[in-house]
Amino acid sequence: MVLTETSPQPPMGQQFLKEVNPSPNQSLLPLTATINQQDHLEIGGCDVTTLLQQFGSPLYIMDEHSIRTACRQYREGFANNYSGDSLVIYASKALNCLAICALVAQEGLGVDVASGGELYTTLQAGVDPETIYFHGNNKSRGELQEAIDCGCTIVADNWLELETLAELAPHSTPQVMLRITPGIECHTHEYIRTGHLDSKFGFDPNQVETVLQFFQNTPALDFVGFHAHIGSQIFEQQPHQDLAGVLVDWLKRARELGLAARELNVGGGLGIRYTEQDDPPSISEWTATVAQAVETACQKAEIPLPKLICEPGRSLVGTTGITAYTIGSRKQVPETRTYIAVDGGMSDNARPITYEAVYRCFVANQMSQTASETVTVAGKHCESGDVLIQQATLPATQPGDTLVVMSTGGYGYSMASNYNRLLRPAMVLVHDGKADVMVNRESYQNLIQNDHLPERLQRDR
Ligand code: LLP
Repeated sequence: MVLTETSPQPPMGQQFLKEVNPSPNQSLLPLTATINQQDHLEIGGCDVTTLLQQFGSPLYIMDEHSIRTACRQYREGFANNYSGDSLVIYASKALNCLAICALVAQEGLGVDVASGGELYTTLQAGVDPETIYFHGNNKSRGELQEAIDCGCTIVADNWLELETLAELAPHSTPQVMLRITPGIECHTHEYIRTGHLDSKFGFDPNQVETVLQFFQNTPALDFVGFHAHIGSQIFEQQPHQDLAGVLVDWLKRARELGLAARELNVGGGLGIRYTEQDDPPSISEWTATVAQAVETACQKAEIPLPKLICEPGRSLVGTTGITAYTIGSRKQVPETRTYIAVDGGMSDNARPITYEAVYRCFVANQMSQTASETVTVAGKHCESGDVLIQQATLPATQPGDTLVVMSTGGYGYSMASNYNRLLRPAMVLVHDGKADVMVNRESYQNLIQNDHLPERLQRDR
């Protein structure tokens, strides 16, 4: 569709730059985004189009300054608003690889892991196990053993886990938290809502009393406190305030039963900006709300302040990363729409096809051009639903132009696949004009490294 003169002027590269905001989760672009003399987008002092030539296309680009800023805002938010001890742990499911784990640990954060694989990567990155928390609704016996062996805290989700831990524990006394389903509803996509009662995660509230008795009778497990996570991409603050009250009530009950419960983990969930319409609270507002709610609830309950923990994922890395693609083919469906295709798609960003997630994009090698058409940005997979953006307003583009999709730092690479045997893109960390590889681009050889060709199927070549 060609835009007419009366069409509202859609935001283009320069307009998007105006959406840079000091709270990373409220910023559509990484904090270091600028336009250089070639009219190209720069992130972390690196020209995005040049990065594509250097590292290949598509490419995940993460901005170190934005990640560090988000980490600091979380830490300071708690430190300035909570009189007790606190710890921010990074929910690494949003993006787990060696470099990101090392980076957040350098900023004083712990790491939340949700599988043996995330735990392994985090340990390999050198993160102190005392700051690692292991989640999941179906941890295997092997995973529980790995957690015990390294000495991280285990967030128990169900009876089977508690019984297995009690069996494995005699020589170690692992630290165990209890995940509860708080029965709090929030407004987000149903697939990423977790705090309502009909959720696969955590203990139902009416079971908690029995679980506390189990801890009383099982000294081999060190019960450290409660955890809950109500969902993801949340813009409201009220559910988190309510959650503080629910968790503090349980903490009080555990203390009445003589348990040395001393930590309270309120989960993650703060939303980010994928489009101009998204309006999440800032990291500072969110941390202040949570810290004050927990402190007030503890005063009311007359219990000492627990160590306060939160575990953000998306809001630490989401808007700090972009994906750069190269534009390829174009197809015009008369009187319907124009498709432009890029060299990636649902394999590097599964969120549009999974959650109908909406993203914004622009052309990084012509930032000052005004929009002239509305197109559908399609991926290159053999799947009609492989569309990254249904309606993108862009200037006229040519094959070879650089298309940048914003806010892909969280749940992009971590949910990536090799569908159609596409190679997963490389990821670089940019800072002060320098780009370091965090993840290599896959090769064709990588694709077959775990394949096995039984002898009877081998043919002379
Ligand atoms: N803690 C627990 C126990 C979680 O399950 C999650 C996310 C987090 C923390 C971090 O939540 P965040 O701060 O990132 O909202 N793949 C989905 C998101 C699934 C979230 C799963 N759990 C997406 O792409 O939207």
